[in-house]
Amino acid sequence: MSVSPSGFAPAPVAARATVHHLRASRIREVANAGIGLPDVLPFWFGESDQVTPAFIRDAASRALAGGATFYTHNLGIAPLRSALADYVGALHGATALDNVVVTSAGVNALMLAAQLVAGPGDRAVAVTPLWPNLVEIPKILGAEVETVSLDYGAHGWTLDLDRLLAALTPDTRLLMINSPNNPTGWVMSRADQQAVLAHCRRHGIWIIADEVYERLYYGGDAGEGAIAPSFLDIASRDERVICVNSFSKAWLMTGWRLGWMVLPAALTDDLGKLVEYNTSCAPSFVQEAGIVAVREGEAFTRGLVGRLRAARDHLVGALAAVPGVDVHAPDGAMYVFFRLAGASDSLALCKQLVREARLGLAPGSAFGDEGEGFVRWCYACDAARLDDGVKRLRGFLGR
Ligand SMILES: Cc1ncc(COP(=O)(O)O)c(C=O)c1O
Repeated sequence: MSVSPSGFAPAPVAARATVHHLRASRIREVANAGIGLPDVLPFWFGESDQVTPAFIRDAASRALAGGATFYTHNLGIAPLRSALADYVGALHGATALDNVVVTSAGVNALMLAAQLVAGPGDRAVAVTPLWPNLVEIPKILGAEVETVSLDYGAHGWTLDLDRLLAALTPDTRLLMINSPNNPTGWVMSRADQQAVLAHCRRHGIWIIADEVYERLYYGGDAGEGAIAPSFLDIASRDERVICVNSFSKAWLMTGWRLGWMVLPAALTDDLGKLVEYNTSCAPSFVQEAGIVAVREGEAFTRGLVGRLRAARDHLVGALAAVPGVDVHAPDGAMYVFFRLAGASDSLALCKQLVREARLGLAPGSAFGDEGEGFVRWCYACDAARLDDGVKRLRGFLGR
């Protein structure tokens, strides 16, 4: 320990214990292991290898040229809130501008939603395997998080509804649920949503529904326009349901940091205070571009879903032919989460894959203990790139 000339010895510095004990992202850990290595083929992050479509980039350029460089209202600019209210209304039923708040992407919306309803000692339940942020965010606020695991079997990942309802005890404060799910692609059925909503209504439990992948849905019969079942379809706008969404996935805008949430209007003023003390607002030219994405992006999103469906089928087919791989085609999102013989320590295996095969995958254990033995592959790219990745995996397994 260093001692200052005055003889004062400062105590060792440390973050508060809750923060210190948060689990670091194992996806990042693997990606960091690949930094500086040449020719790594990355499939570890949840984003496409394509840039945001030009009509949205052009809208941002125009907004910047026009001087959209100032703070905005905490809740977002009115034309974007209005565009989002129309968009959500068309997908899920009447939604007022007061029910919609613009955020700095989905992860900020999740944090704000949790800050609105959860505090120290509160009990939260999360369905896993799950993108780690949903489990760690309530912990930052001092809540205790119990996880309920999906089951893996002959039909892929499924929910044991009774087990989830049993975990949602009357003293539970909130449920964090993500469907379509990252990493498994599991999509919650309408019937299960209804049962969970009825149960949560009975006990006054908040539902924070992460629906950022609602457009990346390959079930249903509406083709590329299909939308995953949403809690917004069945809940009223003034009950304990907060739905989180994002521009990142359906419009390929990951780096823009723009999202929104739908919530009871009675919470909006308090949420405005939280936005003020977190980020103050989303960037103003980004919000302007968001209006164009929402109002003019439908054809793009439908095309994207078509390409993702084809990529999913291509990757599942290719992986199914690899000895030691156990894979199912997921109904939603943009990942294949497959079991791999020899992946009993998926973190170590994924680091080895980066070093020795130049293949970047995310370890299943990053998404909860039940994800151990699995790896996640983001398939938002073209078939040639997927083929190259599968070839590297085959080469590694066949050594
Ligand atoms: C389940 C889930 N929720 C939320 C997000 C947040 O995305 P963003 O913060 O880019 O909107 C992600 C990103 O991968 C995700 O997988």
